[in-house]
Amino acid sequence: MTERWVDVGSAAALEDGGRIDEEVDGFYVAIVRVAGQLHAFEDRCTHDGGPLAEAELCVDEQTGCGVVVCPRHGSRFCLATGEAMTPPAYEPLRRFAVRVAGARIEVCTP
Ligand code: FES
Repeated sequence: MTERWVDVGSAAALEDGGRIDEEVDGFYVAIVRVAGQLHAFEDRCTHDGGPLAEAELCVDEQTGCGVVVCPRHGSRFCLATGEAMTPPAYEPLRRFAVRVAGARIEVCTP
């Protein structure tokens, strides 16, 4: 199966703490940069399906990893693995491959 990478925006325009929202192959995808690292994940909390559009982005003090915090009930997800770090969510976030190609950010969905 051939991978299909989709252009989602300018790498230079996505500053640390910033976010791009794009629909890619039927998925609502959030692309964020936290602590210099790019991450792409489905914009849907695994607890109750809430959108993560207004979610806080931060860095976990213990692990140094980027975290997204669901604005509805406060579940925290590790951006590097998708793992649900705190309830009420237990299932991981769906993550997508993301890369910089030239000056552009690209996402690959399954
Ligand atoms: S919808 Fe995200 S924690 Fe409940």
